[in-house]
Amino acid sequence: MPETYVVTGAAGFIGSHLAERLLRAGQRLRVLDNLSTGSQANLDILRALDGDLQITVGSVTDLECLQRLCRGADYILHQAALPSVPRSVADPLATHRHCVDGTLNVLIAARDKSLRRVVYAASSSAYGDQAGAQKSESMKPAPISPYGAAKLAGELYCAAFNATYGLETVALRYFNVFGPRQAAHSAYAAVIPRFISAMLRGERPTIFGDGSQSRDFTYIDNVVDGNLLACAAPAAAGESINLAAGGSVSLNRLVAQLNAILGTNLPPLYTAERPGDIKHSQADGGKARQLLGFAPAVSFAEGLRRTVDWHRRRSEK
Ligand SMILES: NC(=O)c1ccc[n+]([C@@H]2O[C@H](COP(=O)([O-])OP(=O)(O)OC[C@H]3O[C@@H](n4cnc5c(N)ncnc54)[C@H](O)[C@@H]3O)[C@@H](O)[C@H]2O)c1
Repeated sequence: MPETYVVTGAAGFIGSHLAERLLRAGQRLRVLDNLSTGSQANLDILRALDGDLQITVGSVTDLECLQRLCRGADYILHQAALPSVPRSVADPLATHRHCVDGTLNVLIAARDKSLRRVVYAASSSAYGDQAGAQKSESMKPAPISPYGAAKLAGELYCAAFNATYGLETVALRYFNVFGPRQAAHSAYAAVIPRFISAMLRGERPTIFGDGSQSRDFTYIDNVVDGNLLACAAPAAAGESINLAAGGSVSLNRLVAQLNAILGTNLPPLYTAERPGDIKHSQADGGKARQLLGFAPAVSFAEGLRRTVDWHRRRSEK
């Protein structure tokens, strides 16, 4: 029996993969995106699947629009946001509007329309730059950018709606998600697509800092798996949970692995660190294992190969 899912931010990188998986599984889908950082091309991929799909171009800042979309729905997977630290440093008010106001609207609509669960795209940026080998949910959050603060505010609203109204919410703290469809060409592009597209053009990748900073890069299919588990896991309601691969890859190692996959020998260019950037980010995956039964199915190396293949195919078109 198909269920009805609302996916916000479905023209974006993560939202489009979630929407695609749900459509392929025969679920009914309503998607909402204002096309600010997402692309029409991602919506076209969803349309081509010929499933039970309703697309709305609109904003999560529009409560009435969300109320309409949530009527009769079962789950909302809330991905819409302005997802960039440097963008939030440049314009914190816009980040607040799209991330915090937008999330509050999602929660109000989900409460009013009695949805079964809200799964929220939270962020590892909630941890800030705290010392400690792995970031665990028991640590006190300490964001160091307006983006991190806004994503954490959304998480706190999720927990508050769970406690106050009994609306089931799960906040998944994503750690550096990567994969096909992640935007490569914006000024705010994430590091993996930025490096791959530069290196495919034969250019040296630019690292902000000395390249020793490390990330827990998480392949997109693992994040989709985690979201679907979060819709169903009984003990997850009201919780914030890390969603990551559990690895630690420095940017210098990332460039070396990309050179190996691409058959190139392009050394990085080093430039000044950026404000708000975090030195080391690695997840403790214990809570996700315990509450969601989550284990990453695709390794970093395999995910990187698949991502390079996707960029190669696109650059050959
Ligand atoms: N990519 C990561 O590594 C990462 C890490 C942690 C958290 N997240 C979170 O995951 C979510 C998805 O990120 P992504 O990497 O796919 O980014 P993305 O930019 O590709 O997707 C975000 C989508 O939200 C849409 N959007 C923005 N504001 C909107 C609004 N007001 N109303 C409707 N749609 C709006 C954009 O057009 C875009 O399609 C975000 O909430 C982000 O904060 C991502």
